[in-house]
Amino acid sequence: MALKLFNNTGSTLYFTEWGASLKRWFILDKNEEQINIVLGYENDDLYKTNPLYLGATGGRYANRIKNGLFLIGNKSYQLETNNNGHHLHGGFKGFSRQKWSIENQSNAQITFSLVSPDGDQGYPGKINVQTTYELNDQNELNINYKAISDTDTTINMTHHSYFNLHGQDKDSILDHLLSINADSITEVDTDLIPTGKTLPVNNTPLDFRKPTKIGERINEHFHQLRYAGGYDHNFIIQPDNKGVMKLASELVSKRSGLRMTVRTDLPGMQFYSGNFLDGKYNGVSGNPLYKHAGLCLEPQYFPDSPNNEHFPPTIIKKGREYKHKIIYKVSLI
Ligand code: GLA
Repeated sequence: MALKLFNNTGSTLYFTEWGASLKRWFILDKNEEQINIVLGYENDDLYKTNPLYLGATGGRYANRIKNGLFLIGNKSYQLETNNNGHHLHGGFKGFSRQKWSIENQSNAQITFSLVSPDGDQGYPGKINVQTTYELNDQNELNINYKAISDTDTTINMTHHSYFNLHGQDKDSILDHLLSINADSITEVDTDLIPTGKTLPVNNTPLDFRKPTKIGERINEHFHQLRYAGGYDHNFIIQPDNKGVMKLASELVSKRSGLRMTVRTDLPGMQFYSGNFLDGKYNGVSGNPLYKHAGLCLEPQYFPDSPNNEHFPPTIIKKGREYKHKIIYKVSLI
C-alpha cells in the first residue's frame, strides 16, 4: 500500500518507512496546478542510505555533537564520528537510515515507530521512538515526535525536508522570501560546531526578522556564511505570546503564490540553504540537485547541547517521555 496522506484541499503526501521520510508533497499553486514542494530522489533506492537526508527524520541527535563525545553525569560516551571527526544526524546509520515500522495509517494520519537498541551508534539506552504525520484540510502537516528510553540518554529529533515552493527541483530557492523569528543564532566554528556563544543577528546577513530574499546577502563576506558556504545556522526562536507553538519562520514563493509557515515548541531552528548539494544525485524530475535546489527549516534543540550546559537541556531521564511538535502549513499568499 502506498504510504500516502491526502486531504480535500489539494495536498497529497508520500512517505517511505526508510527514515520515516517524506518523499513528495503535492499541493495546488496559484494557477491550481499541482506542484511538488519538497525535494526527492529520482532513484527510490537512495532512501535506504539517504545521503542528503531528504525528507528524513533526524535523530537520535539531529545536527552536530563535537567530536561525537559527551558526558551524562561523569560517564562519557563516544558516538560515531561521521562528519569531519564530529557526530552528525545520529551517525552513519541514524534514524534517517533505518527502516521504521508502520503503527497505524489513515488518509489523514500515519505513525512510524522504531526501536533503537542500547549502544546504537554509540548512544546509551534502548529507546522507543515514534514519528506521527497528520494532515488536515488547512494544509497543515503536523509532525509529532515521541521517545522514551530505559536509561538516561540524549535526544534531538527533527524533520529534514528540503523545500522549494517553486515546485520540485527546477530552480534554486535563492529568490524565496524568508523570515525567521530570531534575534540571535548559536555561533559556529569552521566545522559548524557551536562555539558556545550566541550571536545577535542585528546588522548581519543572518537578520531575517523582516522577510528578505535568501539570495540577497548569501555571498556577503561574513565569517558565519563563509564557514557554511551559505546559511547553515541554528536560529534561537523567540517566544511570540501565542502559546507553546511559536511561529518560527515563514517562506514565500511569489512565483507559485505559496507561503509556508513553520511553528514549533522547540527552542531552535536550523536554516540550511542546501549548500552541500553538488549535483551528485538526481531529483524526482531527473535534474541533478545542485547547490540551493532546496532549503531546510529544521526546528530542533541547539546543536551540541550535551556539551553546552547553558543551552536548553537535551538529556532525557529514563522512563520520561520526550514529546515535541512541528507544524508546516502551506497556503496561498
Ligand atoms: C543539516 C546540517 C548541514 C548538512 C545537512 C545534510 O542541515 O546542518 O550542515 O549536514 O544537514 O547534508
